[in-house]
Amino acid sequence: MAVRAMVLLGAPGAGKGTMAEVVKAAMPVTHIATGDMLRDEIRAASALGQEADGYMRQGRLVPDDLIVRMVMRRVDQGAPDARYMFDGFPRTRPQADLLDRHFQERGAQLALVVLLEVTRDICLDRLTGRRVCRKCGANFHVRNIPPLVAGVCDQCGGELYQRPDDMPETIERRLEVFKEQTAGLIDYYSDKGLLVRVDSSRHRDETVPDLMQAIADRHF
Ligand code: AP5
Repeated sequence: MAVRAMVLLGAPGAGKGTMAEVVKAAMPVTHIATGDMLRDEIRAASALGQEADGYMRQGRLVPDDLIVRMVMRRVDQGAPDARYMFDGFPRTRPQADLLDRHFQERGAQLALVVLLEVTRDICLDRLTGRRVCRKCGANFHVRNIPPLVAGVCDQCGGELYQRPDDMPETIERRLEVFKEQTAGLIDYYSDKGLLVRVDSSRHRDETVPDLMQAIADRHF
């Protein structure tokens, strides 16, 4: 069997990371989240991390060539029959084109692109209320998905913090960037017959069955 992949597409705060955790728990799939990979690089103070940090703090996209190299290196290290779930990638038309080319050369297949649909107000509310565990990366929301003890991770007891790009002005900028540079991918993947829309404005537990159904329908 060849490499297969799916994409979680959606605005900042749409719930990509949250849904990715659910899918990972339900099936063997390698989760490739470019935002998480970049934050790891920043923590490691690598050259890539130092370059990415400025873009991320401003809510701007990291240059395409850096992202594509980082993702493809990871894919090329995997098993020849691996299943990948891309979260936050691709995010621009050049990234999508390079992914297509890379997959074509390797006989890999993009099976589906799930668009998590939410309104701008919901994104704003989710991002301002998001808290992330410093230790294990688990995601919470102060009201929607609160931890059992405020400021403490349910899973590992680590400290919860607010991402530096979750400040209101930076969120506004990220939502603009999504509209300008990423939303065009909706038509791109729809024209290829790969796009499935999932209403992600509902609570996590109501959204999950539709997402899992979409994955099953495409035999991913
Ligand atoms: P990244 O980390 O990918 O951020 P993002 O795409 O802006 O997405 P988020 O992680 O903010 O949101 P999400 O959709 O995952 O929502 P989540 O599940 O956490 O990227 C950060 C930066 O890295 C970018 O700005 C860019 O600079 C750079 N970058 C990354 N990839 C790049 C690329 N390909 N090219 C160039 N640059 C790149 O949920 C949010 C909150 O809502 C949480 O608190 C959660 O608990 C809550 N919540 C989620 N779902 C629900 C629900 N259904 N009901 C109630 N609450 C919910």
